[in-house]
Amino acid sequence: MRILGTGSAAPVNILTNQMLSNMVDTSDEWIVERTGIHTRHIAADNESALTLARQAAMQALDAADVQIDKIKLVICASVTNELRCPSLACNIQRDLELPEDILAFDINAACSGFIYALITASELLKENEYALIIGSEVLSRITDYRDRNTCVLFGDGAGAAVIGFSTNPIHWTAMAKGDDQKLRIDDYIHMDGHAVFKFAVEALTNGIRTVTEKAGFTLADLDLVVCHQANERILASAAKRLGISPDRFFLNLAKYGNTSAASVPMALDEAVRSGQIHKGMRVVLAGFGGGLTSGAVAMEWS
Ligand code: UT7
Repeated sequence: MRILGTGSAAPVNILTNQMLSNMVDTSDEWIVERTGIHTRHIAADNESALTLARQAAMQALDAADVQIDKIKLVICASVTNELRCPSLACNIQRDLELPEDILAFDINAACSGFIYALITASELLKENEYALIIGSEVLSRITDYRDRNTCVLFGDGAGAAVIGFSTNPIHWTAMAKGDDQKLRIDDYIHMDGHAVFKFAVEALTNGIRTVTEKAGFTLADLDLVVCHQANERILASAAKRLGISPDRFFLNLAKYGNTSAASVPMALDEAVRSGQIHKGMRVVLAGFGGGLTSGAVAMEWS
């Protein structure tokens, strides 16, 4: 499997820590120190998981330069599609005029959604076939802006990638463990921050270690880890446990906060476009979150 092109989209509206401190009992200092987040992007009324997904997908298709009639699979990861049905993936098929002889479906694996989609696509694709995978979220619609435990964390956005079949293997691991106590979404997101933090560090550390071994790399060989942007301290703790430099972890959460399924592909797109990933690099992508779920993928970038 090869990632041929990436794209991303974020709403124009920005919510700063200062603005949040006028809404709940918090401060810029607390948020930056405990999370690393400075701003998040918030969807306007006319934006949705679908409109953001569409923008990110069009960029990824453009970057990959793949004819759309070669797309055989569309997978969208989201917990914030407005409708239960049709899926985001079906609406993407319609809006981008993709062929009809395809598989198109959504995945709910919360913040691990894009990694689950990537693994699924890599298992399903055959020679000369391409997949469009997207993570898109409008978490602002399910964030309780009276709850300081959660409202400082989340933002909106979308990221996408076009995947092509390749004999180059990818190595993956995934985990799912039903638990509605630590992280649950009904009308709003509810989270036991401490418990999820602990789970996240463990899942990230195990995931990175497992896929690195499967790929035959050593941890010292890893050039870049692009993982779910939940909290800078989670990434730093995982780096410390693995004995690798935190510099190897790509970070853009200061700007976007936690965008759940969109976070890994948004970070990946920024890493690609800013020239921080190139051919031959040993890259790990990793996600963790609600479900509880986690997943990681290792590959040599080609
Ligand atoms: O995407 C899915 C995965 N999600 C995650 O990975 C999130 C994991 N969890 C976290 O990132 C962190 O646990 C949080 C950022 C949510 C919280 O940070 P923390 O360092 O674990 O803080 P805490 O929950 O231990 O709270 C410490 C104190 C508490 O006050 P007391 O009880 O010590 O008086 C909280 O009430 O900080 C208080 N607090 C706040 N203070 C100012 C909690 N939220 C805030 C806030 N502003 N926004």
